[in-house]
Amino acid sequence: MKQKSVFLPRDQFGQPVHAHGGQIVSHQGMYYWIGEDRTGRNRVACYRSANLRDWEFRNHILTVDSPAKPHPQMPTDLRLCVEGAGCNIERPKVLFCRESGQFALWMHWELPDNYLEARCAVAVCDTIDGDYTYLGSFRPIGHMSRDCTVFQDEDGSAYFISSARDNFDTHIYRLSPDYLAIDRLERVLWPGQQREAATVFKRRGVYFMLTSGCTGWTPNQSSYGWARNLAGEWSIRRNLGDETTFRSQPTWVLPVYNAAAGEFDYWYLGDRWGGRGHYFESQYVLLPLRFAGDTELSLEWLEEIDL
Ligand code: GAL
Repeated sequence: MKQKSVFLPRDQFGQPVHAHGGQIVSHQGMYYWIGEDRTGRNRVACYRSANLRDWEFRNHILTVDSPAKPHPQMPTDLRLCVEGAGCNIERPKVLFCRESGQFALWMHWELPDNYLEARCAVAVCDTIDGDYTYLGSFRPIGHMSRDCTVFQDEDGSAYFISSARDNFDTHIYRLSPDYLAIDRLERVLWPGQQREAATVFKRRGVYFMLTSGCTGWTPNQSSYGWARNLAGEWSIRRNLGDETTFRSQPTWVLPVYNAAAGEFDYWYLGDRWGGRGHYFESQYVLLPLRFAGDTELSLEWLEEIDL
C-alpha cells in the first residue's frame, strides 16, 4: 500500500486528522493516533486505523470541558483552562498501565500566549479513546517542563521525558507504578544543548532518543543518541536526516511488525508544522528508520512510502 510520505489524512467525515505532536500506538490489533486538536474547545483527539492509511475519528478525549478530579498522589493545579485566559495543550501521549488497567495521558500545559508556565499535565481513562479525567498540571519535582514524551519499557517501568531548564536540558523521569505521578529524576541528558521534541524507542536492547533543536515552528536538524541503560550513560548526539529533517520535527517512532523480515520496522513520525497562523495546515511526515548495526540510525528521504 503506497502513499505519500508527507500527508494530512481525512477522517470518515472528510475532516482533516488533527493529531499533531502526537503518537501512533497499537492496541488490541488496531492503531490509535492521539495528538493535539486545537479546534474549538478541543485539546486532544484520538483516531483509529487498521492499516495506517484510513483513519476513523474516535473521540475528543480531552476538551476544555473534561471532568477533573484531584490527583490521587500529589498537589496539582486542577484548572485545565484558566478563567479568561485559556490553555494550550501540546505533545499529548498515552501509556497503558497493566497494573491499574488504565490509560495515563501526559502532556505539556501552558497558558495560550507564551511558554512561561512550563508545566506537564496528566489525565486518566479506562479506555484508550474514552473521555479522560483531568488530574491537573504541575512542574515535575519543581523543574520547568515543555516538549515531552513518554516511554514504556519491557519490564513495565514507564518514563516521562521533557525539556527542562528553559529547554537547555532533557530530563528522564521515572513514573510511579500507576504511571500517574513522577517518581524520580533518573537522568539529565545533554545539558546545555537545547533539545526539543524528544521521542524514545527501544530496539534489540538499545534505547534511542530522537530530538530536534529549538527553533519554534521552523524545522531544524534533528539528532539521535543511544544508550544500553535508559538511566545510565547516553552517547553523544548524531545528526538524523537533513538540515531540516526533511522539513519536519520528530514526535514519535512507531514499531510495526514486518512478518516477512520476522522483526519490527521502525517508522519515524514527524510534524511538518504549518507554523504561526497556519497551524491547521500542519502535515505529517512518515519515513522508515534504517539501522546500520545496533546503534547507528539513519533517516533518508522518500517521496512515497510502502505501508
Ligand atoms: C516547537 C515545539 C512545538 C511547539 C512550537 C511552538 O519547538 O516542539 O511543540 O511548542 O515550538 O513554537
